[in-house]
Amino acid sequence: MGEVLCDIDLGVMRLRLNRPHKKNALTRAMYSELTARLEAASGDDAVRAVVICAEGNDFSAGNDILDFAQGAAELQTAELDAVPVFRFLKALTFFDKPLIAAVRGQAVGVGVTLLLHCDLVVVADDVRLSLPFLKLGLVPEAGSTLLLPRRIGHQRAFAWMALGEVIGADDARSLGLVNRVAPSADVDAVAGEMAAKVAGLPPTALKHTKAFLRDAEDVWEVVKAEGEVFRKLLTSPEAMAAFSAFMSKAG
Ligand code: COA
Repeated sequence: MGEVLCDIDLGVMRLRLNRPHKKNALTRAMYSELTARLEAASGDDAVRAVVICAEGNDFSAGNDILDFAQGAAELQTAELDAVPVFRFLKALTFFDKPLIAAVRGQAVGVGVTLLLHCDLVVVADDVRLSLPFLKLGLVPEAGSTLLLPRRIGHQRAFAWMALGEVIGADDARSLGLVNRVAPSADVDAVAGEMAAKVAGLPPTALKHTKAFLRDAEDVWEVVKAEGEVFRKLLTSPEAMAAFSAFMSKAG
């Protein structure tokens, strides 16, 4: 079975991360699959909304650290448009239909920053959202240096990124990061209900509304700027040491 499952039902495409034994850490292959699905969804009139959810107890442990380490050298010279993670971030940034996330358990790194691109977010009461980029010697990505302070203010964004805080469901709701908190077992169903509602709205008006609500071009400029720094830092001694420490712990 694939590591990103996809089904379409009544106008809603559901993308389910399916690597639960690795806490749905994202690999280059998974980014490529997600990109292809988002691009297909964008071009398919039968798809009116997309839900991103995950198999198992956790949404995503962020980028796969082994994959980071293996891809770091190649990433130094590649065109951003040829790099799976950046192709995914571009598809996410410019995605023109409602995007809904259903999140439970751990959401780390890009597992959090991708939520800033979603139009509706449902989390479980056990959710734990963390942004360990600095600890890994990296900068936050996915446009989060623009989107997060815009959403929660500079000090709160900085504290979350710099102090290694883990945000739970109540804080996420009071910060305005999520729409609904639900029991873990109900998260996918609640997200599905929301998706069904927006899938029933007139699609052209919805597309314009989403475009007015967020300036994708502005966000993309920041994604690229962060990406240029991020890829250089991937081979820095700090990042390499952090990756080795994680991999030796993982054994
Ligand atoms: N990349 C690769 N593998 C990962 C991973 C990641 N980002 N996150 C978890 N895994 C793997 C672990 O190596 C382990 O694999 P193993 O069973 O083959 O040893 C498995 O997933 C379970 O993870 P484990 O660490 O045992 O679970 P936990 O409940 O103790 O801790 C986390 C969960 C998410 C706190 C912890 O796994 C973690 O910190 N992961 C790294 C997160 C990260 O820094 N992501 C990059 C962000 S930029």
